[in-house]
Order: sequence, then structure tokens, then C-alpha cells
Amino acid sequence: MYRMGEQEVKELKKVFKAKQLFRVGDPSTGHLGEVVRFEQAWAKYIGTQYALLMSGGGTAALMCSLVGLGIGPGDEVLIPTYTFMATASAVLAVGAIPVLVEVDDSCTMDPDDLEKKIGPNTKAIIPVHMVGMPADMEKICAIAKKHNLKVIEDACQAVGGSFKGKKLGSWADAGAYSFNVFKIIGCGEGGGFVTNDRMIYERASIFHDSGTAFRPYAGDFTIPIFLGLQFRASEIMGAIMNVQLERLEGILKDLRRIKKVFMEQLSGVDGIGFARSNDIEGDCGVVVAFRFETPEKALEFAQSEGVGGWRPIDSRKHVWFDWEPIVNKRIAGHPAMNPYNIPQNANLRKDYAKQMYPKSIENLGRTVFISVNPDWKAKEIKERIKACKEAASRLK
Ligand SMILES: Cc1ncc(COP(=O)(O)O)c(C=O)c1O
Repeated sequence: MYRMGEQEVKELKKVFKAKQLFRVGDPSTGHLGEVVRFEQAWAKYIGTQYALLMSGGGTAALMCSLVGLGIGPGDEVLIPTYTFMATASAVLAVGAIPVLVEVDDSCTMDPDDLEKKIGPNTKAIIPVHMVGMPADMEKICAIAKKHNLKVIEDACQAVGGSFKGKKLGSWADAGAYSFNVFKIIGCGEGGGFVTNDRMIYERASIFHDSGTAFRPYAGDFTIPIFLGLQFRASEIMGAIMNVQLERLEGILKDLRRIKKVFMEQLSGVDGIGFARSNDIEGDCGVVVAFRFETPEKALEFAQSEGVGGWRPIDSRKHVWFDWEPIVNKRIAGHPAMNPYNIPQNANLRKDYAKQMYPKSIENLGRTVFISVNPDWKAKEIKERIKACKEAASRLK
């Protein structure tokens, strides 16, 4: 969440004055319809037919996507080795098992390894667009189609990004976004879900709304109501997100502009190379991504004075071997609810040993990110670029 201010305050005041914080309400009594307005605007912006705003974050949006697709016990879901643990937690929360796929030199799901990892119990694939960088959705969707698998895009870290001109989240059967405080836009905590499929939407909608028992539109649903959880967004979240959406293109423009300045001014500098991008135009510009000959050189560069860089392998939260509860299979509050123990999952793959994913270790170790701030002034940008040049000149 890079920007917030008076505009959010102004809209929130209106919500409090209306004294209607629940997402459902009658406009004739002053209900402002903030959540519904955001959902409609978000679907339009992403280019899908349906969208939901929800509490419970991107995690809930991923769960709704999985429930929407009918994924559960007995199913394997392919996810990349580089993502926040929540991608795996969502799969486990619906009773399925995450199986890992290597990341390539773009730090996103490796399509070659993806195809190798497809097994008899694989039902879905979740590519993740990490730090604003698009995964190769064309290759991933083609593989999914060939093997009759479903795809869910985890665009939690790439809100507003695109691949080949099409918005991230709109390539797959369903897409998930995070609007938490660390993301491109947000409302403190929150998640977004999108799909073009009416059935997936109905299932996700019912699941996120305690079974949608009292929603006025539930009468239009074509499927029986089933019991879900409570991930409904409040009007407070809706009001903030409506302002944040107005800010989004401006934020992306500045992130991309600054990333471009780094890349232009550092290209051709001895010792400096950039990580491969699947689509630099669609990249959100959240980070400048470098690639070095060795992990040691990458670390030295990242830690050099004034650079402020970090290697994804050191993020301590986003690499599979750091997902401690998953690696040790401590899931859910009761052993019988732990998907690793349930009989339907007995024959599924459950090994996450570090040595199984050498390509990911190599790619995540040789990459360095510099996190971009869209509000950096020219002087700050210049100083950082200078520090990068000096650091590169010192690399042996
Ligand atoms: C790649 C990725 N997926 C899922 C999530 C989960 O989002 P949230 O924290 O909003 O539940 C995050 C959040 O950090 C994320 O970075």
C-alpha cells in the first residue's frame, strides 16, 4: 500500500455518516453500496465478468477459487517453490495437497518443470506472479489445456499487472489478489477474487458469505446453497478500495517509470545483468530484478552500501523450505483435519525436501531485487543507481 490520504478519509467519513457498514443494504435508506461498486469496477478493470471483494485477504480469495473449482481431498495442486506460504495454505485449507514446481530464471513457475510434475491426481495449477513479475501464462495455460487441468492465478503481489496485454488474474479459471498493507493497493487487509465462469462465481460467492443465506441476490443462484465461511467485506473496506483503485494506474506508472530508469542507466554496466522477464511491459515495477553469475556475487551486490537489495532466497517467508509448518506438516487445529493425514490423500506426493528443487535454489540465489518506491525523487534514484554501479565495479 504505497499511497493513502485525504481522499480515503473523505470517503470513509461518508460511510460513517451513512451508519451502514454491512455490504448489503438498501440505497433508499442511505446505504452507499461501496463494496458492490468496487466489485463491479474491479471486474471491469481486470476484464472479467465477476469479482468479489473479501476480508480474509488473498488467502481467502485463493480458497474461494479452489472451492469454486471444486478442489478438495484427493487432489494435488501444483504451486511454485517461490511464493508466500499462503498459496500452499489455501490449498491445504480445502483439504488438497500442494505439490511444488521449480521456478525458472524469471523467478516464476517454470513451464518445463510444470509439465514434468503433472501426475494422475493433479487437478489444478496455481502460477504466482511474484513481486509484480508476470508468470508465462501463455505456456502455463497451454499445458493446463493439454492435460485438462484448472488454473488459478495468484496475483496477490501483482495487482494491475498484465501478460501480453491481458490483465493478470484474467488468464485463468479464477484469479486472486491481496489488498493487505504490503501490496500495491490495499485497505489494511483484504482480498479480491475474479472469474469469468458463472458456476465458479456462484460457488465462491456462497463460500465467502457464510452460505449466502440472506443475500438478496442468492435467489438468482442456480446451485443449492452450501455452508461456507465468513469472508464478507465491509463498506469500510469497499470505500477505501474504491479510492485505491483510482490511485492504481498512477502508482503503476511511477513504479514502472522508476524501474525503467534503473534498467536504462545500468544496462551495459560491467558486472550487471537483469533477471529475465516474461513480459517487461506488463511487469508492475515493484522491484528492479538483477541476475548475477553466482549466488555469492548476488549477495555481495545486494549487501553493498547504498544498494538496499535482497535476494529472494533470503526472504525467509517466500521460499518453500522456509514454510516451517508445511515442511513439518503441522496443519489445522486437529490431527484428523490435517490434509496430510486424511485417507483420500494417502497416495499423493508430500515431499518438500530442499534438494528436490536445485533449479529454484540456483535461480533464487542468483537474483537480487531492489524494492522500488513510486514516490522516490530523482535524487534518491540517482544515488541508488550510483551505488549499484560502484557495487558492480567491486564484484570480482
Ligand atoms: C503470493 C501471495 N499469495 C497469497 C498471499 C496471501 O494474501 P493475504 O495476506 O492477503 O491473505 C500473499 C500475501 O502476502 C502473497 O504474497
